[in-house]
Amino acid sequence: MGSFFYAACVIAVIASYNAGTASAACASNRFQCDNGRCVPITWVCTGIDGCGDNSDEKNCTTYVCPPGYWKCKNNRCVPVQWLCTDINGCGDNSDEDKCDTNRCIMRRGKKLRTFSNTKERIKFPCKYNAVRDTECGSWKITITPGNVIEADKDKRYIVKTVWLGVERVSDGMKWEGRTDLRIAEKYIEGSKPEPFNKKDGALEAKDIFNFAASSSDDKVIVYEKSGQWMFRFNLYSPGDAWHKSSGFEFICLSDNFQPSGFPDQICGNGTKDEVATFKKSKGWKDSRQAVLFHEVFTNDGIAQTDSDCKTTADTISNKCNNTALQWEAARLCWPVVGKSRFHTCVTRNLERPESAMRHCVEYVCSNFTDPNSCFALSEEIDRCQDLEGVSSKVKAQCAPNLSIKA
Ligand SMILES: *[C@@H]1O[C@H](CO)[C@@H](O)[C@H](O)[C@H]1NC(C)=O
Ligand SMILES: *[C@@H]1O[C@H](CO)[C@@H](O)[C@H](O)[C@H]1NC(C)=O
Ligand SMILES: *[C@@H]1O[C@H](CO)[C@@H](O)[C@H](O)[C@H]1NC(C)=O
Ligand SMILES: *[C@@H]1O[C@H](CO)[C@@H](O)[C@H](O)[C@H]1NC(C)=O
Ligand SMILES: *[C@@H]1O[C@H](CO)[C@@H](O)[C@H](O)[C@H]1NC(C)=O
Repeated sequence: MGSFFYAACVIAVIASYNAGTASAACASNRFQCDNGRCVPITWVCTGIDGCGDNSDEKNCTTYVCPPGYWKCKNNRCVPVQWLCTDINGCGDNSDEDKCDTNRCIMRRGKKLRTFSNTKERIKFPCKYNAVRDTECGSWKITITPGNVIEADKDKRYIVKTVWLGVERVSDGMKWEGRTDLRIAEKYIEGSKPEPFNKKDGALEAKDIFNFAASSSDDKVIVYEKSGQWMFRFNLYSPGDAWHKSSGFEFICLSDNFQPSGFPDQICGNGTKDEVATFKKSKGWKDSRQAVLFHEVFTNDGIAQTDSDCKTTADTISNKCNNTALQWEAARLCWPVVGKSRFHTCVTRNLERPESAMRHCVEYVCSNFTDPNSCFALSEEIDRCQDLEGVSSKVKAQCAPNLSIKA
């Protein structure tokens, strides 16, 4: 730690330093240390001994870290790259102590770990808000992963793309970007300057983030410039061992972090209880997975990009005549994508569980009258295990010889 890091970022900061006290021996943008050294003014009152005799840290009332540095509890400034590394960089461990509690994490094929440390079973091939308009320090964060079903024999969900949206609370200025396996890979290889493609907003990534790449574990890390939060995205390549940590991770290092709850975001502050409470308030008796399904596909704040996902969302919102029918669609159709045994079967026999999900929703939302979606669904679920409720309707209406139990 020392001048190596500082030399790279000599940028004006506001510090409680009186320029008049520097002697003529130092240039005007340098600070005269008690030991005679001249150091950049930006080193003054950073919490770090830049002079060697600590004289640049005397009489400070305000400590401001330069961009790219995080202010420890003990006022030391450490590079943002030191955050959440399991190494006590600050000396007081404050660079590590929020990393586990304020963390939302989604791994390949695993459950989402919420901010409250509970685990949420979230299995959809479509986009959903893991984190939505959640304040962390001076930013509001939205994180929208898009899952896909891995096509190899395991047929697990992987997080292939993530949309990251940030809004500066003070002035409402925004930036939104998207990363995926290819974008992140190019950044790691060095053929792309940023691990995101910007999608929207007046802010530029370089004004908000520091980036880092780790080729050894195929990972990109995005740090807010003053280290208020960080976001990691680990790549997945077919054939990777299961322990590989492909997926994403968001960590807020702000002290006053208050994650919001379900249904605003799925990575909530106590999700298991929240979903149960929500379910009760609606009078729904069925599974939590159905509740998640319903919330994802009736949330018009999420622009679904996959065409089956988009049609599913549009159908639930516009074709299901009432909430009861919407709920029925969620209840009857989530197993197609949410139950491993079911989507494994659908994938083996046909192509996409997403398509079976769409046809199921179209059929239910037609109040079980549309022959086209009935027929398409019957093809897709034929020879799969029981799909309770829907299969009997399908059998009765359009596919008497459907193999699955009714
Ligand atoms: C810091 O404060 C002490 C006493 O308050 C004073 O003697 C000293 O000159 C000050 N040093 C600087 C660099 O302002
Ligand atoms: C979770 O957030 C909601 C606001 O979205 C709040 O009402 C609730 O009290 C929070 N729960 C916990 C356990 O913090
Ligand atoms: C939905 O309601 C409209 C009238 O409000 C009706 O014409 C239509 O048939 C209904 N659709 C279904 C599937 O029940
Ligand atoms: C669905 O159809 C049944 C008759 O099969 C009818 O009783 C019911 O009201 C319909 N529901 C909706 C929401 O249109
Ligand atoms: C169902 O199977 C029977 C006998 O195997 C066959 O005669 C009939 O045509 C089939 N029906 C349909 C709709 O495929």
